Amino acid sequence: MQKPKIAILISGRGSNLLALLDAIRDGRLEAEAAVVISNVESAAGLVRARERGVETLVISHKNRTREEHDREIVAELKRRDVELVCLAGYMRLLGSFFVRSFENRILNIHPSLLPAFPGVDAQRQALAHGVKITGCTVHLVDEQLDHGPIVLQRAVEVLDHDTVESLSARILEQEHHIYPEAAALVLKKDFRVDGRRTFCQDRD
Ligand code: GRF
Repeated sequence: MQKPKIAILISGRGSNLLALLDAIRDGRLEAEAAVVISNVESAAGLVRARERGVETLVISHKNRTREEHDREIVAELKRRDVELVCLAGYMRLLGSFFVRSFENRILNIHPSLLPAFPGVDAQRQALAHGVKITGCTVHLVDEQLDHGPIVLQRAVEVLDHDTVESLSARILEQEHHIYPEAAALVLKKDFRVDGRRTFCQDRD
């Protein structure tokens, strides 16, 4: 049977991208990485994807409206029969055309326990607020920033001696576990979304 095709969208380092590719290689995520797309040509993750033999594309957002940029990406995804889109450090908000083209088929990872601390610098926000527990979230993408229904979360304790760097590193370690897990869940036949809640028997 053909494996579902996934695309990974990045803007930078690409460590979550690698975690997804590792999971595919090891059979933890039954999928094929069809393409990696970046809006930034210098994104380090592009090199890492190419080293793994995955096709890469750069589609810059410069001199285009959001809608034009989204449409260009969606066309490339449809051309490759992509079933699931994973945003992994992709620093662009998706417009309604993109979101509607892949309804409940776009995932994002965020380094906090949403709905706490959306937006940039989530780990810094967590430290500044003084929370004792933070973590990471994989959620379905809608048109609002860091907002759609939650698929998986993992808690990370904030330690007294934590800096933004040390806390970010421990959260990132957990991101690398939950992103492939969440992608696998969403691809299961019995995965469903009801309002803000998501369900999958395999998670019970
Ligand atoms: C991660 O912390 C992710 O949660 C956030 O952006 C960062 C991307 O890191 N959305 P990487 O490019 O996957 O290493």
